[in-house]
Amino acid sequence: MDDKTITIDRYGVMGYPVSHSRSPVIHRLFALQTGHSIQYELLQVTPEKLETAVRQFQRTGGKGLNVTVPHKAAVAKLADQVSERARTAGAVNTLSFIEGEIHGDNTDGIGLLRDLVVNLGVNLEGANILILGAGGATSGIVGPLLEMEPAALRIANRTLDRAHDIVKRFKHLGPVSACRFNAVPVTEPYDLVINATSAGVKGETPPYPTAAISEKTFCYDLSYGLTPTPFSVWGRERGAAKSVMGWGMLVEQAAESFHIWRHVMPNTAPVLKQMSISA
Ligand code: ATR
Repeated sequence: MDDKTITIDRYGVMGYPVSHSRSPVIHRLFALQTGHSIQYELLQVTPEKLETAVRQFQRTGGKGLNVTVPHKAAVAKLADQVSERARTAGAVNTLSFIEGEIHGDNTDGIGLLRDLVVNLGVNLEGANILILGAGGATSGIVGPLLEMEPAALRIANRTLDRAHDIVKRFKHLGPVSACRFNAVPVTEPYDLVINATSAGVKGETPPYPTAAISEKTFCYDLSYGLTPTPFSVWGRERGAAKSVMGWGMLVEQAAESFHIWRHVMPNTAPVLKQMSISA
């Protein structure tokens, strides 16, 4: 008789709150597609319990974690090794538990780039880019966007100091500058406007700079929902060429995490489709 025990590798997403997360569905679809047996859990963990929860997951044989709001900066401190891109972002969204060590990585930036460039066909080289917001989400995407050599990347934020802080961190990588929403220069129309504020999630619609949108502008909301987000509606109503939500980035960052853990890259297109959220 075969007495081999089949062990299923354990993964999960840690956040607070986390009940809305689509990551379990996405990773189960990837596992099904690639023929991998994995278990993927939703783990609601408060900031005070973060370290205990991560170490317990590791101790009990967990293989990897996705980490989401509000833990992405804090969890970097628990990692024994942090990838270059996670260090640049100042945030970790993927942990791997390897031979007693914790490895931290960040797949958000590459997830956004794959969605913009591969899925949506946006040309970033030489583009004029505006990011609205200067919080954790913005720090995660500025480095990867600057690597694509845009003509200019401007960060507009309600609180000017926070935008200036991000500019200081990234200005060695390319042409990045800061301003308030009401001071966005519109001498040249923007090719791409990315909403990285958390305003929509809170049901708020800040005074986004209307003049930044022209008929050639691509609007991209890092937030997503089953109904259109306030920013995606705003962009469409202002006459943007296209206005989409960040479902594609969500699936792409998950694919990169799956690749880190399982060494196989899932095909994201059918997963986006299967979830009926194709951007
Ligand atoms: P995240 O990690 O999601 O980026 P965060 O670090 O708290 O979260 O940053 C939230 C961003 O949304 C900030 O840029 C914030 O602006 P401030 O720096 O001025 O606080 C922005 N934001 C949130 N609610 C907003 C609102 N109602 N109007 C304008 N900006 C808002």
